[in-house]
Amino acid sequence: MTKPMTIALTKGRLEKDTVKLFEQAGFDMDFMKDKKRKLIFESPDGHFRFLLVKAVDVTTYVRHGVADLGVVGKDVLLEHPYGYYEMLDLNIGVCKFSVASTPDYDPKNHRRKRIASKYPIVASTHFNQKNEDVEIIKIEGSVEISPILHLADAIVDIVETGNTLKENGLTIVEDICRISARLIVNKAALKSNPQIMLLMNQLEKLVGKEQVNMNETINR
Ligand code: PRP
Repeated sequence: MTKPMTIALTKGRLEKDTVKLFEQAGFDMDFMKDKKRKLIFESPDGHFRFLLVKAVDVTTYVRHGVADLGVVGKDVLLEHPYGYYEMLDLNIGVCKFSVASTPDYDPKNHRRKRIASKYPIVASTHFNQKNEDVEIIKIEGSVEISPILHLADAIVDIVETGNTLKENGLTIVEDICRISARLIVNKAALKSNPQIMLLMNQLEKLVGKEQVNMNETINR
């Protein structure tokens, strides 16, 4: 019997959307229901094994070849851009990166700004592209409070519904790029296992092929 294809999924809402996508692609995913605290699931037919891990760890499992494939947000890939191939935009988990601040923020002020973010690479890449020298302050969460408390002038963060910004009195200064979940693949597995390409073709029929780069338009 052949080895199951191992797929690392980002735990949480993205995992649920990915399971739905696999169901739409015709796979019986009942074995993933009623999962309690389990973190590894093998399909009864032995074709798939799913690992439920934190977003950033998806890239680690794929890079080390423990998982053949991974499903993870573009936000994480932009901060950890190596050791895998990014194959497909799954068009789920859609949101965007934006710069946001308090209403009194003046983006044209020439003073060197402090920008707080959980995503220092995304933030510095964005301001570098604008030829603007800023100080990046790395924050691990609840980044929205940092301009209110004068830790930073503005933030770079994920915006989905916009509710977190709104409820903390922040507004969007500018949008940076669209984010969505991507299918990534281990480089060696892609060469050695033809089943991976077949699965990707099946998923691609469902979601359509999209170009993936930092300059994608924000279509929301
Ligand atoms: C993300 C993001 C924003 C929020 C945006 O945080 O960093 O804070 O979601 O969502 P919204 O536009 O729908 O309000 P997350 O929930 O991951 O929490 P964290 O700040 O602890 O990382």
